[in-house]
Amino acid sequence: MNQRFSSKKTISTKDVFHCRWQAPSNIALVKYWGKTEPQLPKNASISFTLSSTVTQTEVRFIPLAAPTETVQFSIIFEGEEKLSFRPKLEAFFARMLPYQPFLTQYKLEIVSQNTFPHSSGIASSASSMAALAACLVDFEANISELDDSIRQEKISFLSRLGSGSACRSIQGPMMAWGTHNEIADSSDEAAVPVTEIDSVFKDYCDTILLIDKGEKQVSSTLGHQLMHNHPYAQQRFDQANKHLAELLEVLKQGDLEGFINIVEKEALHLHAMMMTSDPYFILMHANTLKAIESIWAFRKKTGIPVCFTLDAGANVHVLYPSNVLTQVKAFIDEALRPLCQEQQCVHDIVGMGIKKY
Ligand code: PMV
Repeated sequence: MNQRFSSKKTISTKDVFHCRWQAPSNIALVKYWGKTEPQLPKNASISFTLSSTVTQTEVRFIPLAAPTETVQFSIIFEGEEKLSFRPKLEAFFARMLPYQPFLTQYKLEIVSQNTFPHSSGIASSASSMAALAACLVDFEANISELDDSIRQEKISFLSRLGSGSACRSIQGPMMAWGTHNEIADSSDEAAVPVTEIDSVFKDYCDTILLIDKGEKQVSSTLGHQLMHNHPYAQQRFDQANKHLAELLEVLKQGDLEGFINIVEKEALHLHAMMMTSDPYFILMHANTLKAIESIWAFRKKTGIPVCFTLDAGANVHVLYPSNVLTQVKAFIDEALRPLCQEQQCVHDIVGMGIKKY
């Protein structure tokens, strides 16, 4: 139990509390892959917070006549009751309840939706857990003396208990999670904003190529587990921390060449871990590789600093500064869209995190 995030004395209320928060997805540049209980990372990671791939969540907190043992909730997602979401949410509430014990006195009616295409293969666990945690902390602030200075951090902390990478979606333009020598106040428990970055990175663009819109074959939960007995695990964790130290300097300097080098290496090293797990697996598709080759050829030919990263799936994130948007969009339309399912991609840009809507 982390005392820093325990809740203070609460007032009990007979009123229904209602709030709505939206939270964006994020894309890691140095990847988190491997964890220990409860959702603590084996290495530090850093991500761009996105802005238009968001989950919008509203919660009604309805007082109960008598407290219950576990958190009572209903979940409607995009207009339908989602029984399949219950196990993940039940596990989340069981984990976070010690930090908000008052929740047993309420029933939570959760209504949620994503702004990005349904079944797009874009993971929504980060944005959905961050949006839900924002609602929970909003409620806590309403019925207790929650210190304002800890509010964002508590949202990050709670969302981490639902989905590790969610803790990096709270603020922007970049957040780091995991204890790291070179990042003041960094912690395994919650993410912190990284502010010492050149302006070129403050409106960086991310176009997500929807190479495969289906469910992935291997979940990230299983992927993380396979790092436990992985022959290269320790080297990987050390290397990620080293990449992060290097990237911090690159971000300060606005060094695009250095950025591309670290970001692409990280994406390929993440997938190399998957390919060398036991059992081994591959999440990239033929068109993932074609997109990567095409991005490399375009960069070589034009000198335009466009690069790629991958999360735990086949989709490709195309990253580029906003001043080359027109040229890169034309390239994407011509060369990369044909590699996507139904020619679909999602244009996004770096953003500032959660907000009320
Ligand atoms: O937060 P999880 O358990 O879905 O894991 C996320 C893992 C990666 O997306 C592959 C990397 C990352 O740091 O976001």
